[in-house]
Parts: sequence; structure tokens; C-alpha cells
Amino acid sequence: MGYQIPRGTQDILPGTVEKWQYVEKKAREICSRYNYKEIRTPIFEHTELFLRSVGDTTDIVQKEMYTFTDRGERSLTLRPEGTASTVRSYVENKLFGLPQQPTKLYYIGPMFRYERPQAGRYRQFVQFGIEAMGSDDPSIDAEVMALAMDVYKELGLKRLRLVLNTLGDKESRKAHRDALVAHFEPRIDEFCHDCQNRLQTNPLRILDCKKDRDHDLMKTAPSIHDYLNDESRNYFETVKSTLTAMGIDYVIDPTLVRGLDYYNHTAFEIMSDAEGFGAITTLSGGGRYNGLAEEIGGPATPGIGFAMSLERLLLALDAEGVKLPIEDSLDCYLVVMGESAKEKAPSILYQLRKAGLKADKDYMDKKMKAQFKAADRTNAKIVAVLGDDELANGVISVKEMESGNQTEVKLEEVTQYILNQI
Ligand code: HAM
Repeated sequence: MGYQIPRGTQDILPGTVEKWQYVEKKAREICSRYNYKEIRTPIFEHTELFLRSVGDTTDIVQKEMYTFTDRGERSLTLRPEGTASTVRSYVENKLFGLPQQPTKLYYIGPMFRYERPQAGRYRQFVQFGIEAMGSDDPSIDAEVMALAMDVYKELGLKRLRLVLNTLGDKESRKAHRDALVAHFEPRIDEFCHDCQNRLQTNPLRILDCKKDRDHDLMKTAPSIHDYLNDESRNYFETVKSTLTAMGIDYVIDPTLVRGLDYYNHTAFEIMSDAEGFGAITTLSGGGRYNGLAEEIGGPATPGIGFAMSLERLLLALDAEGVKLPIEDSLDCYLVVMGESAKEKAPSILYQLRKAGLKADKDYMDKKMKAQFKAADRTNAKIVAVLGDDELANGVISVKEMESGNQTEVKLEEVTQYILNQI
């Protein structure tokens, strides 16, 4: 038996790849409307970057990274997400010094996490994400959420839920953290091994534990909302009122915590409520990360962003039965009969293509009937037939498939004729 694709990865074949191209195009289009510019960073980074940013107590860093040592003995990691690299690049390239601030960036590219594969969860997946750095104006929080929702809505999704929370600033988080430790500590031995470790390293993550989610202490755990200082509360209120004024629906979930350490203030996820979407209902997630740039050696910089995987987006489109308007047809298929015609065909085809037409012909020495069938399969708008007789008369027969109209055109005029028809 030959080789098989690695677990948790996918081949995206013609027939499906058009959907990817379509949603990528839509994402780029919406980014350009919101004035976000594309950034492309390497697929691997120094491992240390992710330890510092994503956080060394997170599942991503502890269990999911593809880390390797290169031939120069450096520890490198395939990026598990895009925020760390984007902020690293922002700092390294001093983008904060550019006149136009905030710096608004987007990326589309593969990310890698060693997770247990299932529908909607892969080891290589493509994230589309945006990052806005340099502003702590709450209206940019609303902008980031609006952009994410626009991508889904404009592609035709309806069963969407924007779930919003605040994690507060450093001071609020510290107060909440202390309250969480005091809450769980007396009975921590009733929790799983991971939660026991999390108690001191990252107690907020206990709230996100799948194994212990039904424990009665989970329901009574202190909420961040009771520990917000005035500044954090006001910030959250403004984010909410801005969303409301923009007409964007949301629900507040005080238990929403994100799986990465760099967040503060705004945190959000967009969920799919479509039936049959499967066990994983989160389509995208994001939030504010003031302090991350500083953490990795840059100037104090507020930032906010989100990321969605295109895999989950496409699953949601399937679950809601959305058919993307993908047009995949040729302008012209050239049917060729006879030896002289066969010799002439490549130069005619080349002419059509140079003129910008999507055109093809047979290369498998097919009989005429099979060539017409092949033309049919390509949904060609025009089928041009070139036989030795036509060639001898300097003409080519051109059939417009929708109307069925057929006419003979002079060979030297065929390109212009087809251009006029399309
Ligand atoms: P995240 O919640 O870890 O956040 O991932 C964001 C999105 O990436 C998820 O909602 C999901 O759509 C997709 N995703 C994550 N893991 C997988 C997987 N194994 N298979 C398929 N899709 C997956 C981040 O990555 C942050 N960097 C988001 C962000 C940007 N926050 C601020 N800026």
C-alpha cells in the first residue's frame, strides 16, 4: 500500500478548492472594506515566542505544539495560531512607528496543533484572522466583532451567536484569580489532575475544564463580573453599547474564558446554532490582548483581534445548506478532427487564452463524440469545432451552447467573435 495523508490533515481537491478560494476572496474583500492589510509571517517561529505569548500553562503549549530542533540546534515550532507571530512582526518591524495607527492587519494561512482529530478539529487547519494594534478605543473591539460577523453573514450563514465576555484588566483579573483559588482550593482533590495543576498556575482555566464541568463548585464559582474595577466595567459597557448601536446582536456569557493566556478585557466567540453542525460549535474566537507586545519585548501596545478556521466556516455552510455561487466553466472548448486541424489547434487555443478567454481542448486523442462529452463536462459556453474541411476553407464552426446557435467564423476572427459572445 502507498502512503497515506498524516492524521488530522486534509487534501483539498479541485471541486472543493473553489469553495476555499471563494471564502478567502470574501474575507479579503471585507478586510479591505474595513481597511485591514495583509501580513504574511513564517509558518515556524522560535518556540520561546509561543511560550511567552500563548502561555506556558495552556493546553496549546503543553500538549499541542509541533516543536522540533533544527540542524542549528534551535528549538522551532510550527505556529499554532497567528496572533503571536503578527505581534512579533509588529514589534520587530517597528510598525508602531508608522504614521497610520492603529496598525490593522489580517492573515490567512495554515496553523498546526497536535489535537485529537474530529469533525471541525484538525492538526493542520487554515485560520483567517485579524489583529488591530495600537488603540484601546472600545469602538475597535466592536469593529473586530462586526468584521467577523460580516464574513459569516455575507457568505449566507444565519444561525450565528456572538458570545461576549470581559476578562477585566490586570487588577480585576488578579482579584478574580484570588477568589477562584479560595473557592476551589478546599475541594481541589475532587477535581481532575489537570485542574489540580491549574489551581496555582492558571485557575481561570478550571472553568473551561471538560471533565469537571458538572462539579457543583463550577456553578457557584466567583464571576469576573463581581471583581471588575470601574475602568474595566466602563470599558465593557462601552463595547456593549457600541455593538448595540451598530445593530449587532450578542449574548453575555460570564463563564467564557479563552484557551490562550494573553487576553484581557474583551473576549468573544462566535458559535453556530445550526443543527447537525457537530460537537464543536465554536466558529471563531478572539479578544483584547493589551500587554502582549510588551511581554515579547515591544512597547506597551493595546491590541485586539480574532481568528476563525476556514474548515469550520465551510462545515457551517454545509450544515446550513448554503450553496456558494461558484462559477466554474470554460468560455470555449475546442473540438478537433483530422490531422491538419490537430496541428493547427494549439495555436488557436493559445490565441484564445492570450485574449483572456478560459479555453481548453482534448489531449487524449478522443473521438469526436467523446470530445463533445468532455466539452459538456467543462460547462463550456462555446464549443468551437475545427475539422480539416473547415481548416481548408479558413473557417471554424462556433456553437453557442445556451442558445444552440451555430455559425461559421473566419479563423482569423474567431478570438474576437468569441470575446463578443461571452
Ligand atoms: P483560538 O480560539 O485558539 O484563538 O482559535 C481560533 C479559531 O481557530 C477557533 O475558533 C477555530 O475556528 C479555529 N481552530 C482552532 N483550533 C482548530 C483546530 N484544531 N481545527 C480547526 N480549527 C481550529 C486563536 O487562535 C487566537 N489567535 C485568536 C485571536 C486573534 N485572538 C486575538 N487575535
